[in-house]
Amino acid sequence: MTDIPLDPVEDSSLKLVTIERHIQEQQRLHPNATGKFTAMLQDMALAAKLIARQTTRAGLSNILGPTDSRNVFGEVQQKLDIYADQTIFKMNDHTGRVCAMVSEEHDKLIDIPPHYDTGNYVLIYDPLDGSSNIDVNVSVGTIFSIHRKFTRGERGTIDDVLQEGKRLLAAGYVIYGSSTMMVYTTGRGVFGFTLDPGIGEFILSHPNIQIPLKPLYYSVNQGHEKYFTPGTRHFIKWLQGMEGEGHAPLSHRYIGSLVSDFHRNLLKGGIFLYPATTDEKGQYGKIRLLHEAQALAFIAEQAGGHASDGIGPILDIKPHSLEQRTPLFIGNRELVEKAEHYIREHDKDWISRYKPYRLGDI
Ligand code: AHG
Ligand code: MN
Ligand code: MN
Repeated sequence: MTDIPLDPVEDSSLKLVTIERHIQEQQRLHPNATGKFTAMLQDMALAAKLIARQTTRAGLSNILGPTDSRNVFGEVQQKLDIYADQTIFKMNDHTGRVCAMVSEEHDKLIDIPPHYDTGNYVLIYDPLDGSSNIDVNVSVGTIFSIHRKFTRGERGTIDDVLQEGKRLLAAGYVIYGSSTMMVYTTGRGVFGFTLDPGIGEFILSHPNIQIPLKPLYYSVNQGHEKYFTPGTRHFIKWLQGMEGEGHAPLSHRYIGSLVSDFHRNLLKGGIFLYPATTDEKGQYGKIRLLHEAQALAFIAEQAGGHASDGIGPILDIKPHSLEQRTPLFIGNRELVEKAEHYIREHDKDWISRYKPYRLGDI
């Protein structure tokens, strides 16, 4: 019988800290942080509560199902995609903290309306990750990251967005699952908060998350096996203990929501891989560098893990376009580095085709 999670007041092992108070405390660790940055993180927590309210009612309110529109990636937009996207935009468009926003649901930079002030921060977000799971009641999420504006002038520019992940100020995700959790980092550790719906507060439940040294899971869409590169095939066989010196076979878990697969592997140890494939569509990967990979890579590295596109760190990639894709290997460092080893050994052709794309030369 699993322990029923204690009421945060009764669970003496937990300091009773709300996310708002934690963010305030984090601000003191950043001498040049302004209250604006702190307030922006708090705004994301409020947006998460609003979206959570809809995801937990998706079966009841008319928020289910597809719209008749498609996003920049050609994917059908779910009603909840649009609701989450609008919630995050309206939470940030008027605050004077943001100079530009970039959303997976929009093909261009989202300007701050001219009648509002602008600020020093760029917000990049995937408003709803794992959309294909909404209608079947499987957990979905939100992914966000924050860059500091560095160009001159009031308005944010595309250059302020296309920064390497290693320059991020903050990153986080929300997972709308059996409970709603918000996990974030400002570069000083990773902290997880669980929403107590009874009081509408995110309470610190996972202080200073570190990925366990002993991995338990690997996550990949096995249905794409026909199109995996030789390097990926060798790597998966190694994960299953059937290649080379072999690894103790890991259990396979794949939910189809990146946030959920990532979150499980972060807490239990493991690797999520969405590799490039040999077919035209998947040759550069599917995961979005800006809206998904950079944020989770920042969190993974802060938690003692690692994230790579198979060639090098995700955080070192200089983005060249808003809709840039990337292969993604993220989780325990030893597993990610093993993937890089097999790709270096067996995927020289693919590497020669991918490198020009990675550099924006095609
Ligand atoms: P999104 O719903 O924001 O488009 O993201 C879906 C992504 C990611 O969440 C997930 O890991 C992956 O797509 C699943 O892709 P497959 O269905 O091809 O496995
Ligand atoms: Mn996504
Ligand atoms: Mn999405």
